[in-house]
Amino acid sequence: MSVMVPALRGSLLLVSLGLMVACSPAPEGAGGATAAVDEESPAYQAYEYRHSLMTLVGNRFGIVRGMAQGQVPVDNARFTKAALDLATLSTMAREGFPEGSGGVPGSRALADIWNNAADFENKLQDFEAAASALADLAESGGFAAAQSSVDALAQSCGGCHRPYRAEE
Ligand code: HEC
Repeated sequence: MSVMVPALRGSLLLVSLGLMVACSPAPEGAGGATAAVDEESPAYQAYEYRHSLMTLVGNRFGIVRGMAQGQVPVDNARFTKAALDLATLSTMAREGFPEGSGGVPGSRALADIWNNAADFENKLQDFEAAASALADLAESGGFAAAQSSVDALAQSCGGCHRPYRAEE
C-alpha cells in the first residue's frame, strides 16, 4: 500500500498546478474581448457577497412581512426560523461593504457609504438591533409576540436604502 502514497502526492501536485494555471491571468489579448468587470477584484467579490446576502435578506424579510401583513398564512415555526435567519444575516452585512468596494458596474451601493462611514455603521447597527429584537420575541412568544416588531425591522431597511442605495 505504501506505493499509493507517492502516487497520491503526485496527483495532488498535478491538481495544485492545474489550479495555479487556472488562477493565473490570461495572456494579453487572449480571446479577443476585454472583460468590462474584473470578477477577481476584491471590489467585485464584495459586491457579489452583498448582492447575495441582500437577496437572502429580501427572501427572509418577505416571509415575516408577508405574515405580519396577512398576505402569507401564519406559521409560527416558519416565522421564527425566518426571524432567526434575519438576525444572523444582519450580522453578516458589514463584511459586504469593505473600503474601496464602491463603483462596481451594476452595483447600487452609493459612494456615501464610504464617505459617511460612521453614519453607515449606525445603519448597520440599527438593522442588527431590529433583527435581533424580532428574533428574540419570535423565539419567546412566537408570531403573536413578534408581529408588531416587523415594522421596526422594515424601517431599518429603508433607513439604509434611502441614503445609501441608488434607485433601480
Ligand atoms: C446598512 C445598509 C442596509 C440595510 C440595513 C439593508 N440594506 Fe438592503 N441593500 C443595501 C445596499 C447598499 C444595497 C445595494 C447593494 C449593491 O447593489 O451593491 C442593498 C440591496 C438590497 C436588495 C437588492 C439585492 C440585489 O443586490 O439585487 C434587497 C432585496 C435588499 N437590499 C433588501 C433589504 C431588506 C429587506 C433589508 C431589511 C430587512 C435590508 N435590505 C437592509 C443596504 C442595506
